[in-house]
Amino acid sequence: MNPPEARFMKKVIVVYESVYGNTKKIADAICEGINKVEGVECIVKKTGEIHTDDLCDYDAVILGCPNHNQGPALNLVKFIDRASIVHLKGKIGATFDTYTGGNKNVAVVKLESKIREKLPGIELIDSLSAKVTGRKGPLVDDEESRALDFGSQFAQRLVE
Ligand SMILES: Cc1cc2nc3c(=O)[nH]c(=O)nc-3n(C[C@H](O)[C@H](O)[C@H](O)COP(=O)(O)O)c2cc1C
Repeated sequence: MNPPEARFMKKVIVVYESVYGNTKKIADAICEGINKVEGVECIVKKTGEIHTDDLCDYDAVILGCPNHNQGPALNLVKFIDRASIVHLKGKIGATFDTYTGGNKNVAVVKLESKIREKLPGIELIDSLSAKVTGRKGPLVDDEESRALDFGSQFAQRLVE
């Protein structure tokens, strides 16, 4: 079968924050998983690399960051604040965080609340929390492959 024409492709952007590179690896793995699904294409950008207006160009937006002090990293929170004036109605979304110790889902739950408050046009359909072995990492063994599967499942839901 021929690949779908570009204008029929679903477009996804993963926007992330990362200090030591672990959350970037999760963002890249999610994107790789998305790009495995026919009819969906994904790119990854760090918060400082894009303007919030650019979010309009995508059907789906995935936002993720490290847990810093029991909440989402400040640079991503600021990005969301800046994006609150952008028209994002009808978009699908998901969230992810990285954490240490027993803090699974702690930052990502707060991130979801922040998005629901500031970017109500985005319908959040999934989240992922990935563990690092210490502040600087590395990621726990299977977290990147879990992120890849997470991306593929997310993309599958976009084309269903
Ligand atoms: C300032 C700071 C505060 C942190 N606070 C927490 C915390 O409260 N809970 C937690 O699980 N991890 C905490 N961490 C660990 C981060 O979650 C970890 O550094 C991050 O997942 C690594 O991702 P990165 O390589 O993308 O920066 C903290 C890290 C930093 C730098």
